[in-house]
Amino acid sequence: MPLSKAELHLHIEGTLEPELAFELAARNGVTLPYADTEALREAYRFQDLQSFLNLYYELMAVLRTEQDFADLADAYLARAAAQGVRHAEIFFDPQAHAARGIGMGTVVEGLWRALGRSEERHGVSTRLILCFLRDESAASALETLEAARPYLDRITGIGLDSAEVGHPPAKFREVFERAAALGLRRVAHAGEEGPPQYITEALDVLGVERVDHGLRCMEDPALVGRLVRERVPLTLCPLSNVRLRAVDTLADHPLPAMLEAGLLCTVNSDDPAYFGGYAGDTFDAVHRVLGLSEERLRELARNSFLASFLEDDEERRRR
Ligand code: HPA
Ligand code: ZN
Repeated sequence: MPLSKAELHLHIEGTLEPELAFELAARNGVTLPYADTEALREAYRFQDLQSFLNLYYELMAVLRTEQDFADLADAYLARAAAQGVRHAEIFFDPQAHAARGIGMGTVVEGLWRALGRSEERHGVSTRLILCFLRDESAASALETLEAARPYLDRITGIGLDSAEVGHPPAKFREVFERAAALGLRRVAHAGEEGPPQYITEALDVLGVERVDHGLRCMEDPALVGRLVRERVPLTLCPLSNVRLRAVDTLADHPLPAMLEAGLLCTVNSDDPAYFGGYAGDTFDAVHRVLGLSEERLRELARNSFLASFLEDDEERRRR
């Protein structure tokens, strides 16, 4: 039996496996610039975050209808359940779909078809987190939050993703303030490729409750001290860090040092269709390659529920 765990850093569009991409392409009459799934997999060699994002956004062209989003989410939830995930807080990127003429309603209603029956079908509770693309304008983020207003009963929080460097958290101060006033929880990617300063800014300017990645905090001992003291959860994604070259190899990943420092770490799969593993695969990899003990793995699993947006009673029940 795999360890029960919560997945807190997962982009639903990043769970689009090549087989489903071709199936949806055929269903929707979309032509992909790859001969077959093998040729597509060949393209999964990334130099950095941007080279991944280019393919990630390109493949989204196959997602067009509510049913497409439902099928995508259902396939992820089945895989996650098989790997011990009992709770998933799922990011989605509405601006990337709006750019193709796919509205907020199609995305949220479609995802909800799968999320709404996930507990009964897969034994996985879920939350939805709307991410703003940080390489789009602050005005576009504000428009996106407005477009989400009719669906806020289905959306737990907001996040910030896409190309990090040159797009500091402070650019999104206003939309995060408005979201907080609407009762939404707040997270942001910071310190993946961007400097430690972006982590501080996400905390101080955006008021985030968790930091997604946060890897580069290790360059700033004072910041590490603060994150430890304030018990700020970090949603680390070790396999993603290897594929996007934030670290050279998995053996070089600072996760053991981060745990040793007392940071509240969780491990997650980010974009598992692209980075070579779902939640259970990630736990296995850090066990095997980084030599984390069974006790450390249990700590990571425990942290994942502690850092989740589940209510306290429900959190205990799912553990
Ligand atoms: N980083 C930033 N944006 C993203 C990622 C990521 O790892 N995956 C999908 N959007
Ligand atoms: Zn991410």
